[in-house]
Amino acid sequence: MNISFIGLGKLGLCSATCFAAKGNKVICIDHNEDFLRQLMEGDCPIDETDLPQLLATARHNMRFTLDHSEAVSESDVTLIIVPTPSKSDGSFTNEYVSQVLKQLAPALRKKKSFHIVNVVSTVMPTSCETIFRPLLEHLTGKTCGTDFGLVYNPEFIALGSVIRNFLNPDMVLIGASDKRSATTIRDLYASLVDSSPTYAIMSLTNAELTKLSLNCFVTMKISFANELAAVCERVPGVDVDMITAAIGADSRVGAKYLKGGLGFGGPCFPRDNLAFQCFAESCGWATRLSPEVVSVNRSVVERLEKTVLEKVHPTATIALLGLSYKAGTHIVEESQPLMLAERLTARGFRIRLHDPKALPTVASTFGGKAELCDNPYTALAGANCILLLTDWPQFHLLDWDRIERDAGNTPLLIDCWRILKHRHFSRFEYAAIGLGPKSNSMEWS
Ligand SMILES: NC(=O)c1ccc[n+]([C@@H]2O[C@H](COP(=O)([O-])OP(=O)(O)OC[C@H]3O[C@@H](n4cnc5c(N)ncnc54)[C@H](O)[C@@H]3O)[C@@H](O)[C@H]2O)c1
Repeated sequence: MNISFIGLGKLGLCSATCFAAKGNKVICIDHNEDFLRQLMEGDCPIDETDLPQLLATARHNMRFTLDHSEAVSESDVTLIIVPTPSKSDGSFTNEYVSQVLKQLAPALRKKKSFHIVNVVSTVMPTSCETIFRPLLEHLTGKTCGTDFGLVYNPEFIALGSVIRNFLNPDMVLIGASDKRSATTIRDLYASLVDSSPTYAIMSLTNAELTKLSLNCFVTMKISFANELAAVCERVPGVDVDMITAAIGADSRVGAKYLKGGLGFGGPCFPRDNLAFQCFAESCGWATRLSPEVVSVNRSVVERLEKTVLEKVHPTATIALLGLSYKAGTHIVEESQPLMLAERLTARGFRIRLHDPKALPTVASTFGGKAELCDNPYTALAGANCILLLTDWPQFHLLDWDRIERDAGNTPLLIDCWRILKHRHFSRFEYAAIGLGPKSNSMEWS
């Protein structure tokens, strides 16, 4: 099938490459000329696991262009994956999606055959029915569902594993204006994915609300684990991992996203929660769970800051390991580690920062206010307090004997992910999120 993609960002380029790698002819459109030039010259401008290799194998099926009309005239389906930034009230703007629809409309008006416009960007519920459908019908003079199809087909992927998630979904969500469009998109995914997903096929508005609800539910699980972790810290001998492993083994709950730690961040989870609240309020319903989920999340950073203020001398040097919102990415959007770094810097501590990928991203934020260290051992040497904030695999492999030896006076090590909970330290005072004070009781496993 011929497919076109508009918006070749973190999600769009990965999606286009996956479809091309499976033998589809793919037209790739972005309005960023510099970005397109890099792609045409053989570079991979997006930092995502396995993308450069996959792009190299799929490139012969991909054509890059600035011309939006080609998306319609030379393909059967157009996937729109442009930004939908949050507004101050928490809702998403449709500005970029609407702009793309206006750019597609002239070609869609002329096209004789049925064409499917598939919105992948995360949008507010009712956007398709109240904004996109009327806009396209007005600009083309055609009838949606008969002359062309409108689909809402958002992705549930995590940065750092976009390609793996994209090719192995549990569920493919398809909201459609008509049966023909829904079937075409379902068949398209069936020819692409390596897993056997559930195809959740529904109306456009149901799909829009499903997308937001699923992300809100996942963050509720994360916040539950974090609330549990806070309780565990107050109970001698208790370990949150023991408890969440057991809870997660129950199929009513499931093990994923149930790890007590520093909470959630990134470009999707925090804003989807706020958008859900905003949408519920616009329908006359004041949500209670979503604000609490966000508040529990923020409280983890506050709890850590309080611990540091109580235990660490104001003249101390503090080393922070990990700044990205999670391991495997340079992205610091809504990053809990970054928020803590900002709070501690504002308190006047001497701060050293290390992250395997995110240092260039934060250079302008912390220039002059903190020492940015490419080498983790430089960040850690002489530090009086070390905060392990992101669960990068590299941090497990550091020489922790050397780090303990080279640490400053009365060093405190705070481990947000319990990476080092089985090690014995002679100099470090070791504290971890979700671990109760040591007890004499025997652990039987
Ligand atoms: N990144 C994720 O993890 C993720 C996950 C699920 C959903 N989403 C959603 O997908 C959408 C895109 O996210 P992203 O992270 O890929 O964004 P991004 O900012 O990385 O990329 C968007 C791309 O769209 C291009 N673009 C904007 N307007 C355009 C236009 N009129 N014509 C052509 N190109 C245009 C930009 O130049 C950019 O390359 C958002 O709605 C986001 O919420 C993202």
